[in-house]
Amino acid sequence: MIFLGIETSCDETAAAVVVDGRRVLADVVATQFDLHAQYGGVVPELAARRHQENILPVIKAALAQAGLGLSDLSAIAVTQGPGLIGALVIGFAVAKSLAYALQIPLVGVHHLHAHLAAPFLLETPPEFPFIALVVSGGHTNLYKVEGFQNITLLGRSRDDAAGEAFDKVAKLLHLGYPGGIAIEKMAQTGDPQAFALPRPRIVGEPLTFSYSGLKTAVAVLLRQHPEILASAQTVADLAASFQAAVVDSLVSRALLAVQAHACPRLVVAGGVAANRRLRQELLDQAKNAGIEVFLPPLKLCTDNAAMVAALGYHLFQAGERLDLRADVFARG
Ligand code: KG4
Ligand code: ZN
Repeated sequence: MIFLGIETSCDETAAAVVVDGRRVLADVVATQFDLHAQYGGVVPELAARRHQENILPVIKAALAQAGLGLSDLSAIAVTQGPGLIGALVIGFAVAKSLAYALQIPLVGVHHLHAHLAAPFLLETPPEFPFIALVVSGGHTNLYKVEGFQNITLLGRSRDDAAGEAFDKVAKLLHLGYPGGIAIEKMAQTGDPQAFALPRPRIVGEPLTFSYSGLKTAVAVLLRQHPEILASAQTVADLAASFQAAVVDSLVSRALLAVQAHACPRLVVAGGVAANRRLRQELLDQAKNAGIEVFLPPLKLCTDNAAMVAALGYHLFQAGERLDLRADVFARG
């Protein structure tokens, strides 16, 4: 089955063509970094307008890359939520129109569950059940995944998402947007032990994440010691110390979930999973603990439509179809 995947939940307009949820024939992503960088974050109204401009060219480019025409498609998968409503409706309306015009089935997918489907595009996909950590700009969620229709939330952030913390701290350090990549780059030359930053824990909730305290600790430190910003080395040290704190909190909870559920397979996905320090730390610690780790390549960690097409295929096989009267959702 040839699936067209469409993703417009945030600031990436993406389309992909995937065969049988496994073989990626095309994976096109138009980012909007340039548009939002000047505001230091995604401006929903501008994102929606840019999606509107980009969506048809991006779909055309994906079909061209795959060497296929619209009539070759078997079905369409589209992100239904969560995300920015104005952004979601663009991809959703186009997906519905195409499905209707081509008279082919449409499947709606949950954006975070789509991130979980990314490792199914790897040569060796994970077996069910597995523990999954989805770390993105909007979410820090731990799941137990027993099947694509059997996903249980085990823990999440009670305040900021990990990616959001990266973006906010990058702003405090004047490193620009998007923050994750900027911090990772800066941290390469920094000492992760230079600054002692907190590793917040919630009493009685070992799988709950919290990042607003960490962000505040960086803000307070910079207020008390503005000279940190005057030297590239101290900025690098603070970036490295912050990154180490986030990575610690993510890795420790993911491993705890694996142990608590006696499930030695761990999938890590979402934009923050592109972070090299996180990837290395996970691989090192998991190896010692005998845990199999599945990390999609960087391109499949950040938002893309190949993961949407992959999940769409699996849900289709399980009988899911989207009614053309269905709507998008912002949260869930
Ligand atoms: O999954 P994603 O592409 O979009 C959402 O669904 O949110 O994740 C975007 C987030 C941003 O907060 C970005 O700063 C973060 O992922 N990110 C990173 C890295 N690359 C992207 N964070 C840390 N290190 C990276 N290399
Ligand atoms: Zn995402």
